[in-house]
Amino acid sequence: MENLQAIKQRFGIIGNDIHLNRAIEKAIRVAPTDISVLVTGESGVGKENIPRIIHQLSHRKHAKYIAVNCGAIPEGTIDSELFGHEKGAFTGATQTRKGYFEVADGGTIFLDEVGELPLTTQVRLLRVLENGEFIKVGSSQVQKTNVRIVAATNVNMHEAISKEKFREDLYYRLSTIEIPLPSLRDRGEDIHLLFRKFAADFAQKYRMPTIRLEENAVKILLSYNFPGNIRQLKNIAEQISIVEEDRLITPEKLLQYLPKNRSNLPAVIGGKSSSQSDFANERDIMYKILFDMRNDINDLKKLTLDLMQSSDSEQVQEDNHRLIERIYQDHDLPEVSNVEVVQIPKVPSPQNDYDYAETIEEDESLSLQDKEIEMIRKSLEKNNGKRKLAAKELGISERTLYRKIKQYDL
Ligand SMILES: Nc1ncnc2c1ncn2[C@@H]1O[C@H](COP(=O)(O)OP(=O)(O)O)[C@@H](O)[C@H]1O
Ligand SMILES: [Mg+2]
Repeated sequence: MENLQAIKQRFGIIGNDIHLNRAIEKAIRVAPTDISVLVTGESGVGKENIPRIIHQLSHRKHAKYIAVNCGAIPEGTIDSELFGHEKGAFTGATQTRKGYFEVADGGTIFLDEVGELPLTTQVRLLRVLENGEFIKVGSSQVQKTNVRIVAATNVNMHEAISKEKFREDLYYRLSTIEIPLPSLRDRGEDIHLLFRKFAADFAQKYRMPTIRLEENAVKILLSYNFPGNIRQLKNIAEQISIVEEDRLITPEKLLQYLPKNRSNLPAVIGGKSSSQSDFANERDIMYKILFDMRNDINDLKKLTLDLMQSSDSEQVQEDNHRLIERIYQDHDLPEVSNVEVVQIPKVPSPQNDYDYAETIEEDESLSLQDKEIEMIRKSLEKNNGKRKLAAKELGISERTLYRKIKQYDL
């Protein structure tokens, strides 16, 4: 068996992720056999590397390798593309044409996005997999071929089967061996490794100095979700390489290239990769919630004070209603009318009620204040002192942030 590192080098595969290594090792092991392989994984994870490795390490390497994107060929022509057609089989079929299964005889066919194959084509494919037989479109003559199939999909095949979009028998035939590829977001340090590789490649291609990421920008890169996986990362590296004049990339610059889909960015950019930092992230989120709660408590205090002071109760009630509604909306709470109002009984105090309440209030407000200061400090640090960005992240106005910086002497 060829060495794993040598294979990676030969096929330009970057990364040390354990699941990636396992996938490549599996490909190396099945390559000499004729077994069908199904490569699974999200779009852009590098599925096309696997059939190339399998073909090159097999006895078929001197015969043809054909990659077919099943999702890109119109339903009306796919049978003809794969299996060929007879002259006159349909309008425009002026000549007999060989299909991929005939051309690749003795070689390998990679069926990318195999889940997109029309059901009628699936029937033909099943037959060729079972006994090597196929029939050209418009012909009645059975032909033989010897082709090894590697298929790939980014869709959930079990779901496709249950919706009767994919034949179960064909699925089992194709997936004798399944090779799953990990998503980029689960590959930790590989993300930076790949970024550096792409940065170097594009620097060479465009004859410019290589871009580099500031330390905090690396943290952002590692915590990004990458819905488009390696393809997206490569794309981002290329864009930055071309567009940015300053070759040292700051976190702010980088963020401009990462689409701000709500689910793509961690709730608070904690800075570490998700696997190690779940706890840290959770803590940050807790602080943010506490911070919001403090604001709400202040609102509620004001509301109570108004109620106590005001004689014009109608206006106050209207204002308060609006305030309460806003608080409920901010926190995505159930509708006001569905909330049961609970009377909180007074805590009996051994001395007097007033002292007791005061102490609690002070304790709570102190710890919240500490968290608030910490949050502001963190956010300012992370945003390199840029108040606008920090305020946005903290969910407060720039003016409020300015006031708090003064108040806490930050
Ligand atoms: N491990 C890797 N190292 C470097 N580049 C990679 C790696 N895996 C994939 N790529 C690149 O990422 C892009 C997407 O890969 P591709 O195989 O087309 O993804 P998929 O078929 O899973 O959608 C391609 O440009 C490919 O060259
Ligand atoms: Mg692909």
